[in-house]
Amino acid sequence: MRKVVLAKSAGFCFGVKRAVDAVYDEIKKGDEVYTYGPIIHNEEVIKDLKEKGVRLIESEEELKALREGTIIIRSHGVSERIYDIIKNNNLHLVDATCPFVLKIHKTVKEQTENGRHIIIVGSKKHPEVQGITGWCVNNYTVLETKEEAKNFDLPLETHICIVAQTTINYNNFQDIVEIISKKGYDIIVINTICNATKERQTEARELAKASDAMIVIGDMHSSNTQKLYDISKAECENTYYIQTLKDLDLDRLKSFRSVGITAGASTPNNIIKEVHTACQK
Ligand code: F3S
Repeated sequence: MRKVVLAKSAGFCFGVKRAVDAVYDEIKKGDEVYTYGPIIHNEEVIKDLKEKGVRLIESEEELKALREGTIIIRSHGVSERIYDIIKNNNLHLVDATCPFVLKIHKTVKEQTENGRHIIIVGSKKHPEVQGITGWCVNNYTVLETKEEAKNFDLPLETHICIVAQTTINYNNFQDIVEIISKKGYDIIVINTICNATKERQTEARELAKASDAMIVIGDMHSSNTQKLYDISKAECENTYYIQTLKDLDLDRLKSFRSVGITAGASTPNNIIKEVHTACQK
C-alpha cells in the first residue's frame, strides 16, 4: 500500500489565516469591503471573495480616489504612506498586517531614526518588502542576491541594520549577512524570518528526502510555495507543483510507494484535504 504523508505545517500560517478570516468577518457586516492588493496569493480564494462582492484596490491612485467603505490591509503590510491616505479619506481600516511584519516596520523605523541605513534581504518586487521600505525614510537598500551584497558599497562609517523579508530562505539571509559583515561596517543584524516559513521549509526538506514523490500545493504566484518546490525538488526528483487537484496526474502517482504533500502559506485547507484524500485512494 502506498504511504502518503501530509506535512503538519502545510497550508495557512497564522498571519494569513488571520487576514482571510478578517475579510470574511467584514463581509458579514454588510459594508462595502475592499482589500488593498489580493488578500493572499491564491486564485481560488480571490475568486470566492470576488463572488461575495469584495473589491480589489490595486494601486495607490485607486486608493486615493476611494471615499467610503472598509479597506483591509493584507498580512504583507503596507508603507506608512498608505495609512495616511486611508486616514485622510476617512475610510474604515481593518489592519490585518501580520504582527511579525508590523514588528519589522517598527524596527526599521526606529533604526532609521537612530541613523542606521537599513538593508532588507528579500525580493524587491515582493509587496512585504515594498511595505517595509516605506518605513525606512528613504534610507535603505534591498539585497536579493549574494552578487548584490558583494557590490554593496556605502562609506565605511555608515551604521547598518539588516533585516529579512519574513518568508526568505534562512541560508540566503546568512550568506548575505556574512558578505556584508566582512566589509567592516558597524552592523546590527535582526533575523526577522518567520518561524512558520522555516518550519514549513525544514519539514518539506525532510519529507521530500523520505518520499519517492513530493507534491507541493499552492498558487503559481506564491513565492513561498515556489521556495517549497525548489527545496523539495533538490531532495526529490519527482516533485510536482500543483494549484489544485485538477493539476495532479493521479495515474503517474500510482508508480510511487511513498508520497509526501506540503502546501504554501496561502493554500486553503479544503484544497489540501482534497489532494490528500485523492492520493490515498
Ligand atoms: Fe506572518 Fe509568518 Fe505568515 S510573518 S503572514 S505568520 S509566514
